[in-house]
Amino acid sequence: MGITMRQMSWALSQKNTRVLLLLLVVTFLSGCTARKVEAVDTDSVEAVVPIVTMATLPEGYTPTVLITGANRGLGLEFTRQYAEMGWNIIATARKPDKAEALQALAKQYPGIAIEALDVNDLERVDELSAQYKDQPIDILLNNAGLSGSPSPDQLFRRLDYSLFDAYMHTNARGPLKICEAFLSQVRAGQMKRMVAVSSLGGSFAARNSMAPATTFYRASKSALNMLMVNVADATKKYGITVIMLNPGLVDTQGVLTDMNEKMNMGLNLTLITDSIAGMINVIDETGIENTGTIYQWTGESLEF
Ligand SMILES: NC(=O)c1ccc[n+]([C@@H]2O[C@H](COP(=O)([O-])OP(=O)(O)OC[C@H]3O[C@@H](n4cnc5c(N)ncnc54)[C@H](OP(=O)(O)O)[C@@H]3O)[C@@H](O)[C@H]2O)c1
Repeated sequence: MGITMRQMSWALSQKNTRVLLLLLVVTFLSGCTARKVEAVDTDSVEAVVPIVTMATLPEGYTPTVLITGANRGLGLEFTRQYAEMGWNIIATARKPDKAEALQALAKQYPGIAIEALDVNDLERVDELSAQYKDQPIDILLNNAGLSGSPSPDQLFRRLDYSLFDAYMHTNARGPLKICEAFLSQVRAGQMKRMVAVSSLGGSFAARNSMAPATTFYRASKSALNMLMVNVADATKKYGITVIMLNPGLVDTQGVLTDMNEKMNMGLNLTLITDSIAGMINVIDETGIENTGTIYQWTGESLEF
């Protein structure tokens, strides 16, 4: 039951606060009912969507993954491993002309298309989505991000606030915008997965998991998790599975392995090949019943 504008103006004309309050309560409750109806609707759609994995793709179908930040680190290894499996890859990079390693991969694997994308350029995200409007995307892989390396300007009492927006925009807003812009392509894909590479650093449950000088990074990953949970709730009715992944501690900057050995730091480092193979497996195996979950690269679900 909704309240019309006429009923509202009548209540106002009566100058009767009790009537007005009552109307507002009714309006609020009717809003709740509407949301409940939508939730029931969502659940019923979810029940009929079969989970498509790599093993159950239609014969002869070549799946497509879009990977952000594909020019180095985890993104490059994701690209390499999906390419090895014969996938089509829309591999995005901020500066394709400087992405030598990615260009070399694209020469080796014809399924790789390199596209320019800075995830902070929202117009460019829309432009790329329009360019690929007829291309079903099986996995939307939000990997690009500012890394979690500690820096003094992220230490409380020495915070450099000019960095705050960069972390929040790149690590949280960018993936959200990409999920929104590429929704129809993911709906058209067979596998229907949206993924964000997050971090244990964003977890409240594991608050001592990272060095203190990572304030903005951690906040951006917490924000990312909440945004992706919202995307999960909003896209469940389309049969889309949204997950977040913690890749483990991977030495993509090429400094930790050496430091760990020389300084006997006891860091539990994960090999990049293992981390990516593990995450590809988790993405493949996770279905709609677990949408909105964050996983370790090995497959265990983590607490937010
Ligand atoms: N490595 C780890 O141990 C670890 C742990 C937890 C989470 N993660 C997360 O995993 C993801 C990848 O990490 P990584 O270790 O591979 O980092 P990385 O080696 O520093 O690579 C980061 C990638 O993101 C790209 N990028 C940064 N800002 C961007 C922007 N505005 N638009 C588009 N691309 C942008 C970089 O492009 P440029 O080359 O142009 O800078 C690069 O391709 C990140 O989200 C990171 O937070 C990593």
